[in-house]
Amino acid sequence: MAYETINVEVKDHVCLIKLNRPEALNALNQELLTELCAALEEADASDKVRCIVLTGSEKAFAAGADIKEMSSMSFTEVFSTNLFAFVNDRITAVRKPIIAAVSGYALGGGCELAMLCDFIIAADSAKFGQPEINLGVIAGIGGTQRLTRFVGKSKSMDMNLTGRFMTAEEAERAGLVSRVVPGKKLIEEAMGAAQKIAEKSLLTAMAVKETVNRSYELPLSEGMLFERRVFHSMFATEDQKEGMAAFLEKREAQFRDK
Ligand code: HXC
Repeated sequence: MAYETINVEVKDHVCLIKLNRPEALNALNQELLTELCAALEEADASDKVRCIVLTGSEKAFAAGADIKEMSSMSFTEVFSTNLFAFVNDRITAVRKPIIAAVSGYALGGGCELAMLCDFIIAADSAKFGQPEINLGVIAGIGGTQRLTRFVGKSKSMDMNLTGRFMTAEEAERAGLVSRVVPGKKLIEEAMGAAQKIAEKSLLTAMAVKETVNRSYELPLSEGMLFERRVFHSMFATEDQKEGMAAFLEKREAQFRDK
């Protein structure tokens, strides 16, 4: 499919999606968000894709929801259209792993979009923030919810109440990002991680994603039960037999997603 506001490229089973509205620091307007959801769903359904990387430009992953587009909206309009609900719903339904590769600003909806991915690799230039309070609104796609679960109440309150930005280093310390790398290495590092994931059994990778994500929804005892049952279910796959046989035979596993 051809897109106007994003670039999509598939290489070695990894789909690289690049947000592309440089004139507005990748501000997330409805067109971009709709195209992004469609591209993610297309990648999720494609036999050629085993992992997805989402990135922006060097200056901005995304500077938030498009303020120009939102500024004159009424309560009736945002409530009746359930503004932005589809972003959370459609991205959380993607079953293949998504890595966010963040350089520059990841603010408001941009920070929330990065948190909707499965993990975040940040360039040392990355700046995360929930500055919606400066606009007289609050976060709307997880900035008060996911961020609080990821970095704890105190830091989340600080970010959401003061609107200050976190550096990549602080974000790594707080557990928001998994690795920080020099800006020039960002795409190489994210594509390398995606490549590693693409070499695994896709069935197992999807089971990992589903199970880790359940930990945010369930009490520990239920989460442990869910994990154990999914673990048990993996023994019904050919990839479990192949993975363990390959280890014992001291060779590389040849997974077939079966
Ligand atoms: C629309 C935006 C934008 C945004 C930047 N631009 N952010 N347009 N929506 N969120 C546009 C600017 O208007 C400008 O266009 C161009 O991008 C370059 O931005 P500058 O401000 O000139 O760049 P700079 O001085 O380098 O400052 C960068 C910045 C600043 C610190 C990131 O742009 C900024 O504060 N942006 C807004 C960040 C924000 O408040 N995000 C939260 C949005 S609300 P022109 O045409 O003037 O050159 C949100 C709600 C989430 O996300 C709720 C659910 C999604």
